[in-house]
Amino acid sequence: MAARRPLIAGNWKMNGLKLDGLTLAQAVAQDVGKPGAVGCELLVCPPATLVMTIAHVLVGSSVGLGGQDCHAKVSGAHTGDISAAMLRDAGAAYVIVGHSERRTDHGESDAQVLAKAQAAQAAGLTAIICIGETEAQYVAGQTLDVLSRQIAGSVPDGAKAAATVVAYEPVWAIGTGRTPTNDEIAAAHAHIRKELAKRTADAAAVRLLYGGSVKPSNAAEILRLPDVDGALVGGASLIAADFAAIARSCP
Ligand code: PGA
Repeated sequence: MAARRPLIAGNWKMNGLKLDGLTLAQAVAQDVGKPGAVGCELLVCPPATLVMTIAHVLVGSSVGLGGQDCHAKVSGAHTGDISAAMLRDAGAAYVIVGHSERRTDHGESDAQVLAKAQAAQAAGLTAIICIGETEAQYVAGQTLDVLSRQIAGSVPDGAKAAATVVAYEPVWAIGTGRTPTNDEIAAAHAHIRKELAKRTADAAAVRLLYGGSVKPSNAAEILRLPDVDGALVGGASLIAADFAAIARSCP
């Protein structure tokens, strides 16, 4: 099987003015950002307003930088949006697409998420494509069906592992302190990899992240599960010591 380097990505969401963001990025870079400090790749995804500023702070560290969303088009009359090339230009190497908060708050469909992932990859970014079931779907036992549908609809055909990460984030686990059982996480990830194999020959090498209430106290057991190649961390990524502790939990 292809080696997959674990990735711990921090999704800061709509949090952080300049000073907060600089302080947080500096603390992460100092604690775990020296090359070789941890066994995983690290990434922070600040709000778009901070990407360029934080790019300067991270120079010389091994902490990477990503955006939280991009438009599917290269440029044009899309007031308030930013393109993948703009993120790249600002210093990002990654972008999150299809986060459930975008799917809910902005009504993003699988087709739109697919178009964003394609735009990101065309601009030279790695797309972190988020999928995951709602609580109602979980309770109804539909998790794996939902994941199949989202993978079919939002992962580009023939996606290359170097430009593609898939994040499994059960909507009901985001920001709630609740997580699926380890067996459920492992089953979901195995299913995602199997479904990915229908879309790309690179499926075995694509990194799959778990996201939803990852914290220092549960990171080690989650990161040890088969087919879990890292984590997408929200709330805990806003506390440098917690993010660093999660990074140190990488097997
Ligand atoms: P959380 O968020 O870690 O705060 O649950 C995860 C995410 O939404 O990416």
